[in-house]
Amino acid sequence: MSEVASEAARRRTFAIISHPDAGKTTLTEKLLLFGGAIQMAGSVKGRKAARHATSDWMALEKERGISVTSSVMQFPYEGRIVNLLDTPGHADFGEDTYRVLTAVDSALMVIDVAKGVEERTIKLMEVCRLRDTPIMTFVNKLDREGKDPIDLLDEIESVLGIQCAPVTWPIGMGQRLKGVVHLVSGEVHLYEPGRNFTRQDSTIFPSLEDPGVAAAIGPQLLAEVRDQLELVQGASHPFDQTAYLAGKQSPVFFGSGVNNFGVQPLLDFFVEHAPAPRARATTTRDVAASENKLTGFVFKIQANMDPMHRDRVAFMRVCSGKFSAGMKTFHVRTGKEVKLANALTFMASDREIAESAFPGDVIGIHNHGTISIGDTFSEGEVLSFTGIPSFAPELFRRARLRDPLKLKQLQKGLAQLSEEGATQFFKPMMSNDLILGAVGVLQFDVAAYRLKDEYGVEASFEPVQVATARWIRCDDAKKLEEFREKNALNLSVDASGALVYLAPTRVNLQLAQERAPAVEFLATREHA
Ligand code: G4P
Repeated sequence: MSEVASEAARRRTFAIISHPDAGKTTLTEKLLLFGGAIQMAGSVKGRKAARHATSDWMALEKERGISVTSSVMQFPYEGRIVNLLDTPGHADFGEDTYRVLTAVDSALMVIDVAKGVEERTIKLMEVCRLRDTPIMTFVNKLDREGKDPIDLLDEIESVLGIQCAPVTWPIGMGQRLKGVVHLVSGEVHLYEPGRNFTRQDSTIFPSLEDPGVAAAIGPQLLAEVRDQLELVQGASHPFDQTAYLAGKQSPVFFGSGVNNFGVQPLLDFFVEHAPAPRARATTTRDVAASENKLTGFVFKIQANMDPMHRDRVAFMRVCSGKFSAGMKTFHVRTGKEVKLANALTFMASDREIAESAFPGDVIGIHNHGTISIGDTFSEGEVLSFTGIPSFAPELFRRARLRDPLKLKQLQKGLAQLSEEGATQFFKPMMSNDLILGAVGVLQFDVAAYRLKDEYGVEASFEPVQVATARWIRCDDAKKLEEFREKNALNLSVDASGALVYLAPTRVNLQLAQERAPAVEFLATREHA
């Protein structure tokens, strides 16, 4: 096997999808601990060690002169290289969160046992559906009272439309939590608060029948678990690798992130079963990860908020070949040769800027606005990766200028900000308004701040009657013209010049769709 093929085969590139507060950050910290990203002396309390990790990470960012706040975390585990791509979640939720999911090979869904499937998880899951991304599930906070596990699996199946295959099963919950049973290996992992840090630090019995189990959890709970398992094994699906890889079935794990319980079985299963980088579609052909020539695409652009460093970092997912520091690449959209001299890599354990990257890895490329979302890099071949869309914004505001003479700067600023992909900018056909769309509310504050700071424009953003946006496509030129005339009041163009329908209400959108059956209303727009 070539170096590229074998390095690709051991990569596991994924993201965590969850609703805020389900425990994504906590679980991330635990996973990094397993990866040895943080040096541990003896038994360190998880959270404390993790705080230390965060500050180390920030120091690293300072050193590199740019904020890449845990955008990508890479760590080795059991002979594999795991790349965890961050999905900004709380106030920083935005279109980038969605687009990160186009750059991963699989996802891990974290669900709060008490809250079940929540709204943001549903949205993120819809994005995973676009590419049938394989998903594993971690049901978190088992140390608290929550929903009955069987009901919870039903909920996941019915709300998210994905089959569940429990791989671990909880023994008790909340105050009564005693452990988990591994349904594939049969092992019983005892829950011992303050321990469970690693396998070595845990009590593990080979099976439920081991006399030690009855002694540890008591005959009553043991009988309950046996009954439950009978029910579960009768009613649920056994793990099926093919169904998982097709995005049709999700293996499910139970545990408690903050107690680091149930995390190692999840990680062990993950590195073994989650997909390595697979072939990706381009405008001309499918590119296999094992190909020797470098290809990759840009899925995220992060501007530096530090005025001392006015550059941007473009995050490129490597799809094939090997990246070596200083190599020359071909920037397909501009047709220019670009030397990738000081690209960033994101190795959590190795503080050096690494010299190479392989399929599944992400590198950060410094630039001054020449690189856009969706751009492809190659070693000369003209091809563009597909499946890196813009997503219809969910929030809209009208830009209001303090100084009307600065309209030009405002337009330029909004257009450039929208190239970075966190916000989108629309010009209605029938008015002089400038409308900004985003999927997270913080983006409007960031836009206002940056317009002032970088373009010298004081603007505020006020509410506007737009509920949702759809890109318009119609192959029949006559029908399209007819549609444009009839709907001019609701039509606008985005920064790329594409036609967009801005619907004042969801009902209006539905009616418009019914009235124009020949016209497609698209919730995503391809960059390529
Ligand atoms: P997020 O990134 O998904 O938003 O969630 P995060 O990890 O920040 O966790 C949200 C809260 O849930 C945190 O509490 C965290 O400690 C807690 N949590 C995470 N995993 C578990 C678990 O397994 N059991 C229990 N009981 N709680 C858990 P917080 O009070 O907001 O923060 P902190 O003061 O604990 O840091």
